[in-house]
Amino acid sequence: MVKKMVKKIYGIIGDPVAHSLSPVMQNAAFEELGMSEGKEAAVYLAFRVSRDELGDALRGAKSLGFSGLNVTIPLKEKALSFVDAEEVAKKIGAVNTIDFGGGVVGGAARGRGYNTDGIGAKRVLEEEEGVGEIKGKRVLILGAGGAARAISFYLAAAGGEVTIANRTRERAAELASNLNLNLRNARARALGLGSTAELKKQLKEADILINATSVGMSPNENATLVTAEMMHSDLAVFDIVYNPLQTRLLKEANLAGVKTVVDGVKMLVYQGAASFRIWTGQEPPVEVMENAVRNALERRT
Ligand code: ATR
Repeated sequence: MVKKMVKKIYGIIGDPVAHSLSPVMQNAAFEELGMSEGKEAAVYLAFRVSRDELGDALRGAKSLGFSGLNVTIPLKEKALSFVDAEEVAKKIGAVNTIDFGGGVVGGAARGRGYNTDGIGAKRVLEEEEGVGEIKGKRVLILGAGGAARAISFYLAAAGGEVTIANRTRERAAELASNLNLNLRNARARALGLGSTAELKKQLKEADILINATSVGMSPNENATLVTAEMMHSDLAVFDIVYNPLQTRLLKEANLAGVKTVVDGVKMLVYQGAASFRIWTGQEPPVEVMENAVRNALERRT
């Protein structure tokens, strides 16, 4: 017999999604706030959904009365066309959070789409003593995919001088011009990763380096796009990869004597916390969520 009545279903959709830490993190938050028990009990699950099935999955989730979803690789861009997206998510070109507005009865015709990735990254950096205000900072972002799009949007909007460096130069150029088009004061620049000399030059002038590519992620733990001799000690280095926690890039930063070195857990937690706030209207227990993620990562190693 099923003892527990789950009333509110949340989850993450993506492919692959089995190793996502969002279920551990969000269920810890529900438990902490007493929301995982009782008549209105909430649960957060992971669902593997391919690109071809995305439309069916979202219509199904809506019909079944799901409360909210996170969207991850490779569905963030495509999900835009299946939701009513807020203006910022449209400009970024990707959605990572869907709110079904209370389910079937009285809910919106489609889910409402948001993007909380960039808010998370901006908050992480602003909290770092060695970074502070983003305005006027020279930010070098590696990557031009979904994560880079969201992060660069928020940092450029906050007055950061953004340069996008990407393996596929055209993608960097497209992102830079998208930022310049959508943000009045942005003067984003683009760079290919083909020339090490040019990358070195940019790094000399940069205040903040962010890896928003998947380079260095397990199982390619030894990979990095930037090594110690390319860094100066006043640079802040932030890697969005959290698997492993100590990426090769962060090891190189430590070798270079960089004072501000930030791993990817906080960004994961802050984007999740922002999603939680959208869905529940409640203040998320950020510390509990971060501990749940760090403990789960430790158990994995
Ligand atoms: P996400 O949504 O996580 O950003 P994505 O859209 O697939 O995922 O983007 C992945 C990013 O990592 C891209 O910027 C990609 O570069 P390309 O645009 O040239 O594909 C970058 N990336 C992945 N593997 C890389 C590698 N081995 N070297 C350099 N960049 C890499």
